[in-house]
Amino acid sequence: MTTDIDVKVREVGLRDGLQSVQAFFPTPSKIAWIEAEAAAGVPEIEVCSFVPAKVIAQFTDAAEVVEASLQQTGLEVSALIPNKKGAERGFEVGVHKLNYVTSVSESHNMANVRRTVADSVAAFRDIAALRDQNPEWRNVKLAGGLSTAFGCTIEGPVDPVAVLKLAQAYVEAGADELSVADTVGYANPAQVKDMFVMLKRELGDVPLAGHFHDTRGLGLANVHAALEAGVREFDASLAGLGGCPFAPGATGNIVMDDLVFMLEAMGMKTGVDLDRLVAVRDIIARELPEEPLYGAIARAKPPKGFHPAGAGRQAAE
Ligand code: COA
Ligand code: ZN
Repeated sequence: MTTDIDVKVREVGLRDGLQSVQAFFPTPSKIAWIEAEAAAGVPEIEVCSFVPAKVIAQFTDAAEVVEASLQQTGLEVSALIPNKKGAERGFEVGVHKLNYVTSVSESHNMANVRRTVADSVAAFRDIAALRDQNPEWRNVKLAGGLSTAFGCTIEGPVDPVAVLKLAQAYVEAGADELSVADTVGYANPAQVKDMFVMLKRELGDVPLAGHFHDTRGLGLANVHAALEAGVREFDASLAGLGGCPFAPGATGNIVMDDLVFMLEAMGMKTGVDLDRLVAVRDIIARELPEEPLYGAIARAKPPKGFHPAGAGRQAAE
């Protein structure tokens, strides 16, 4: 599924979206959402978070959701972890990739995971060692997340040098890839391009992903800037569901359906069938009737004569 794509889109709505929704999204509906998006061709889904139930009650069914996700042929199943305990839970249930989270800004890291950035890095090092010592866990990928990389609601501007320092620490500690996140939607395209150009120059071949929120309307413009810097992996959430309970005023991630439209319209294959993807929104609309759902393509439909980049491949399958 993932071999013939130009850009990898990764659904994060089941984690980044649902973590800020108070109502419990029923487990069978989470699984139906995952199945339907995998069937539409989405290659990777972050299906849950391994955090204490007292911190976020939405993820008490994490093990069950992962188990069902692992049944989806060709789907890369990932989950968020904030600490070693979360990693152990993820390793035990067989997640393919664990997305570890540290904020670049000290105060946001303290608010989110209750420790310093240095302590977060040290814990990541322990997690990588734990993986490497256990033959059955050795193939699990570890992604280092850099939250608030483009600005912080508590500290304001964030120094790109601090972003690079955390990125280098992650790589030294054994990260397989990095995810650079505009957690609070502060970034602009010039900043994004400069950041990724700098990180690629300094880090070499480490895979870099972009994680953008559309809080100030620049989400897809930021994706375009990152594309220009050579980034080929992006997080998004269906219907733009999302936010961060620890980032006041934050709204959802960039809209998955609009991201797929933009990429396909630009001639970049995602492997995703846009019509089938848009249809999955019904599951969210049914379970969360009060929640605002976003998306220009769902509202306006693709332009007349729109021809997805991957249309030939999908028709041939
Ligand atoms: N999963 C389940 N339980 C966990 C856990 C995890 N990942 N991490 C810690 N716990 C348990 C501990 O075992 C302990 O249990 P006990 O009281 O029965 O002994 C309890 O939680 C407290 O552990 P402690 O290490 O002191 O954690 P903490 O209270 O300092 O919280 C975090 C630290 C990292 C667990 C918490 O701040 C957190 O989950 N943050 C993530 C928030 C988030 O998801 N933000 C949005 C994503 S960016
Ligand atoms: Zn986010």
